[in-house]
Amino acid sequence: MGIDYQSRIPNNVSLDSNKTLQRALEHWQPAFLNWWSEMGPTDFQATDVYLRTATSVDTKGWATYGYVRMPEYRWGIFLAEPDADRRVGFGDDYGKDVWQQVPGEFRSVLRRLIVTQGDTEPASVEQQRMLGHTAPSLFDLRNLFQVNVEEGRHLWAMVYLLHAYFGRDGREEAEQLLARHSGSVDNPRILGTFNEPITDWLSFFMFTYFTDRDGKYQLKSLAESSFDPLARTCTFMLTEEAHHMAVGETGIGRIVRRTLEVMKELNSDDPDAIKRAGAIDFQTLQRYLNFWFSSSLDLFGAESSSNAASYFATGIKGRPDEAKYADHLAIDGTYDVAVPDGRGGVKIEHVPMRNAMNEAVRASYVKDCERGMVRWNRAIETAGFDVRLTLPSTRFRRAIGAWGGVPTDPAGTPISQAEFEANRERWLPSESDRAFVRSLMQLVTEPGKVAGWIAQPDRGINKQSPDYEYVRLN
Ligand SMILES: [Fe+2]
Ligand SMILES: [Fe+2]
Repeated sequence: MGIDYQSRIPNNVSLDSNKTLQRALEHWQPAFLNWWSEMGPTDFQATDVYLRTATSVDTKGWATYGYVRMPEYRWGIFLAEPDADRRVGFGDDYGKDVWQQVPGEFRSVLRRLIVTQGDTEPASVEQQRMLGHTAPSLFDLRNLFQVNVEEGRHLWAMVYLLHAYFGRDGREEAEQLLARHSGSVDNPRILGTFNEPITDWLSFFMFTYFTDRDGKYQLKSLAESSFDPLARTCTFMLTEEAHHMAVGETGIGRIVRRTLEVMKELNSDDPDAIKRAGAIDFQTLQRYLNFWFSSSLDLFGAESSSNAASYFATGIKGRPDEAKYADHLAIDGTYDVAVPDGRGGVKIEHVPMRNAMNEAVRASYVKDCERGMVRWNRAIETAGFDVRLTLPSTRFRRAIGAWGGVPTDPAGTPISQAEFEANRERWLPSESDRAFVRSLMQLVTEPGKVAGWIAQPDRGINKQSPDYEYVRLN
């Protein structure tokens, strides 16, 4: 095929020394590019975008900036540097050598975990494919495309593992990663959140704040894995993921700032007046927040899970930052989990620690999500308004786990289905909310200008100013 892998696919895994792997990827690459052109961002494919490309994992090479046309992006394969002394960090084999190959008995479960993670990466690109047409600024348009190409690279990262370590099964799974599609009736993406459409920028910022943050916790758990190539891959992916979450956090922060400006001008906190002035009122913002937070919580799985216990016992998937725990075996002890008592109330269950891993990780995630609320509420308070943004209870609107399908109010108090339905439009985005948000969406193409519903960014990308021409549309 004559593909020069060193230049076409930057990598630090010696691709050129493994002919079988090369052939497998030669086969997959055109399928990937085909998927990108059919399911990736609509239009803008011939446009120069100021993008970051990883060309190595060291501080010099991991973030190389320049104008690139997206189909020519150099999707590379990078694993964090190996640690020759790395040992299994948790579970029954604590302290033993980590695995450089897949142990036969864990083959199918590891493949499933890698496929599930891999499936989310192209899914989000598909979810976001229409957003370019309504970007509030060139800065935001560039950030969208940066997130998209990096999710594409994360797909490459998982496909590399499937091809390199799982033989024929892995190659078939790699093909399926391009065959499932977000929101498809016949062949949807594996996880629910990744089938939700993202057709407006408020949803995009909520997704990058809440759902990419779930990604952070999944990657951190897999970065602890005893399967060393998986751990090293995820460690490097986390460096890119940080930017995705920053896009969400600063995006929501800029919306809050703009809304406050409008509220001050109007000297009013009336949602209708704020909407008429072309800004997003905090009630609408709160409903979007309720939606994406609750949807993302489901991604952690059930509160009590025998799968989670066996992942931990076998060393396949750990806790984020496992090293900071004193006890890496987690054989003793329980974790208190609030579950429905079956009579319309709540009871506490003492779940064995290993079975409660999903819940423990979810709790760290919730804490991490809180930090944005604190920052945005400080801005609201400083501006002199009483409204506050809050995370709903982890019991609210859950589809998975003990609270799956159990109606509660946002504070987590169990209520009847009828009461939930009666309040649905108060708690979750309604059709009219969505129509209103859609009505604000319009592409702003002049460098340095932003749409009226969002404030200017504080700073640009790679020390460029906010009015840099991040996307050359002409
Ligand atoms: Fe990703
Ligand atoms: Fe991401």
